[in-house]
Amino acid sequence: MKIKSICCIGAGYVGGPTMAVIALKCRHLKVTVVDVDSNRIDNWNDANFDNLPIYEPGLAEVVKETRGRNLFFSTDIDEAISESEMIFVAVNTPTKTYGEGKGEAADLKFVELCARKIAEVATSDKIVVEKSTLPVRTAESIQKILDTSKSSVHFEVLSNPEFLAEGTAIQDLFKSDRVLIGGQQTESGKNAISSLVDIYSNWIPIDKIYTTNVWSSELSKLVSNAFLAQRISSINSISSICEATGADINEVSTAVGMDSRIGNKFLKSSVGFGGSCFQKDILNLCYIAKSLDLHEVAEYWRQVIKINDYQKYRFAKKIISSLFSTVSDKKITLLGWAFKKDTNDSRESAAIYIADYLIDNGAKISVYDPMVSEQRMLEDLNSLNTRSYEDNKKALSISKNPVQACKNSYAIAVITEWDEFKFYDWQQIFNDVIKPAKVFDGRNILDKNMLQEIGFEVYSIGK
Ligand code: NAD
Ligand code: UGA
Repeated sequence: MKIKSICCIGAGYVGGPTMAVIALKCRHLKVTVVDVDSNRIDNWNDANFDNLPIYEPGLAEVVKETRGRNLFFSTDIDEAISESEMIFVAVNTPTKTYGEGKGEAADLKFVELCARKIAEVATSDKIVVEKSTLPVRTAESIQKILDTSKSSVHFEVLSNPEFLAEGTAIQDLFKSDRVLIGGQQTESGKNAISSLVDIYSNWIPIDKIYTTNVWSSELSKLVSNAFLAQRISSINSISSICEATGADINEVSTAVGMDSRIGNKFLKSSVGFGGSCFQKDILNLCYIAKSLDLHEVAEYWRQVIKINDYQKYRFAKKIISSLFSTVSDKKITLLGWAFKKDTNDSRESAAIYIADYLIDNGAKISVYDPMVSEQRMLEDLNSLNTRSYEDNKKALSISKNPVQACKNSYAIAVITEWDEFKFYDWQQIFNDVIKPAKVFDGRNILDKNMLQEIGFEVYSIGK
């Protein structure tokens, strides 16, 4: 079946960019992105393309070209479902905070709500595509809900996980390493798979589109994230050995990565990985393993998260011990709050945990980030429930000017690898900080020799 109209439920970091790129590459398709969050939809429809709800290099240009042509953002979910032949579900699937599986399992309530909505509204056959990251066998539950529909329509469920990384989403979507599509191996399942292959093959070479059964596709997404996160925890675990022995983590990383069997990507040591997915997806994998009575498997993957937590606190503790083991009432500046550069997303960013730990020890935290809003930072800190909103507000000061943010600081810590940090006038910053001046480079992006010549004491991860 040649599809003419698709929609996506969920206008977030995945739904927005993915649909924008599909609209760009498939002029013949009408693409509608819907969300319950009317604020978000208003921002997607903002006349000023710099005010889109998501910051992603190249995204504004794609939206500029497609919005109003064949890309539409709306809150009318029923209408979008009714008139689409294919419905992508790209809603959030956070870790459960209460009930069975609390702290580990993915919370599928939004996915379930979408399935119920589709079952309620649909009056013609639909292909429902899982775009969200989901535990293996979720398609079975979705199918069961869809089949409660009162109308006698046929629903086919596909799994089509997304592999884009924030900050490079548009490039990743333009040139995906692979597009994965899982479907049932029945005739209608195979037809549905080929309808989705038809869409992607407008710009993705056919040999990069890999079709599998539904369960392999669902599980491969969790496993891909677990493997990526494992590499970061592996290199981060070695960074502490480097610090204790005089080996240099950048040199070790380069040397190890030169083996083509290992490869040089995803081996940058850091303050620890953040983002909305790695931790959530590994926890979910642990939960699945436990549910299958595979406790050793769960424990194996849990260790990846333990090392990540260890890395964040090791960094925060390093700051405290260097300040004569007390940060009480001392101003400490964090450069960067986002979980990585080129995004305004700060979900699970190391910055949140490092700030929280330092505040617990009495520090006053000053933050500069070029993209994350003040409101977002406060909400992030509040989400940990460590102290009252007022106390967080008192402890956190946010500046739109990096030099101002660093003024009178006892220590400056680089948390996010924003390029602009490399090009600051560090001499000017040095003049205005409390001496001895200290920089903690949590991303190993600054020129250590230059900073030391100016007079800074520099701590870099793994050196
Ligand atoms: P997000 O929080 O940015 O966006 C999800 C959107 O869904 C929100 O705007 C929310 O309002 C909306 N929503 C929730 N329930 C809804 C409902 N019932 N009806 C309509 N809208 C609803 O999340 P995200 O980062 O885009 O992630 C979405 C999924 O994609 C997750 O499962 C995630 O694991 C996966 N994923 C994310 C990334 C990433 O880089 N962020 C990459 C690959 C996969
Ligand atoms: C990650 C995956 O890379 C995507 O393929 C996947 O689709 C996505 O998760 C998802 O499922 O949400 P993302 O979290 O957006 O993408 O960003 P990454 O580039 O993977 O970075 C994650 C974290 O690891 C960041 O905090 C980053 O700074 C850190 N990192 C990354 C390192 O510390 N070292 C590295 O070498 C690479």
